[in-house]
Amino acid sequence: MEKILILGGSSNMGLATAKLAIERRYEVLIAGRNLEKLKRAQASLNGSVKIYQIDLQQDTQTIQLFKEVKGIDHIVVTVSMPSAASSISATDVTTAKQAFERFWMNYRVIHHARQYLPSNGSITLISGSSSKTPAKGYGVWGTMHGSIEALARNAALEIAPVRVNVVSPGGIGLQPHNQLLEHYGKTEDVAHMILSVIENPAITNAKIDVDSGERQGEWSGDKNRH
Ligand SMILES: NC(=O)c1ccc[n+]([C@@H]2O[C@H](COP(=O)([O-])OP(=O)(O)OC[C@H]3O[C@@H](n4cnc5c(N)ncnc54)[C@H](OP(=O)(O)O)[C@@H]3O)[C@@H](O)[C@H]2O)c1
Repeated sequence: MEKILILGGSSNMGLATAKLAIERRYEVLIAGRNLEKLKRAQASLNGSVKIYQIDLQQDTQTIQLFKEVKGIDHIVVTVSMPSAASSISATDVTTAKQAFERFWMNYRVIHHARQYLPSNGSITLISGSSSKTPAKGYGVWGTMHGSIEALARNAALEIAPVRVNVVSPGGIGLQPHNQLLEHYGKTEDVAHMILSVIENPAITNAKIDVDSGERQGEWSGDKNRH
């Protein structure tokens, strides 16, 4: 039975990935900062996962986690970093740096975990659709998401044959806007792609959009427009 460690597995995309991985008979471990949240997630998954309380902003805790969890085959990083960041013009450096803490968590994971993964292992990161086409008011997010994608491409080269990929979601649960499909994004959409990437031995150095064609179309949620 292969083991998946989901960093950020106690809510939304990470939790949906944990649920699907259990259905597909993986051994699942989830990690996050808040123990109560982890326990709730564990209970919602019928107690079948191991939980780890950890703050990935802390280097020593991250190092300790990878020493502790033995025999991991795949790592998924779905951590978030709340920030008031918006456009580059309106966001000061301190606020932008806070948003980029998410990049550094992803970097930290790759840096410290790489030595523990088997040659057929993988790491899957999450970026976001603002990396694809610049949008007003999202300059910091687009830049940060693009940096996570660049991190994955470079790590895929450096730590091959361990595979490194990125899944880039569009808005989850938001009114579909300027996208090709009239589809509300769901955490399950993202979870299915994460598992597909993990299970396909030919996918590495890839960025896969799961965003209903966001920012490519003209559909605006108003069916009378056309
Ligand atoms: N929702 C969208 O529309 C959307 C679209 C594109 C991209 N994204 C991005 O996709 C990612 C996943 O989204 P989501 O909605 O699933 O996020 P979420 O619900 O906020 O979940 C984030 C997970 O990461 C954990 N976490 C946060 N900070 C952590 C830290 N310092 N150390 C360890 N664990 C930490 C959280 O648990 P604790 O709080 O207990 O630590 C939680 O389990 C996020 O980065 C988000 O920005 C979201």
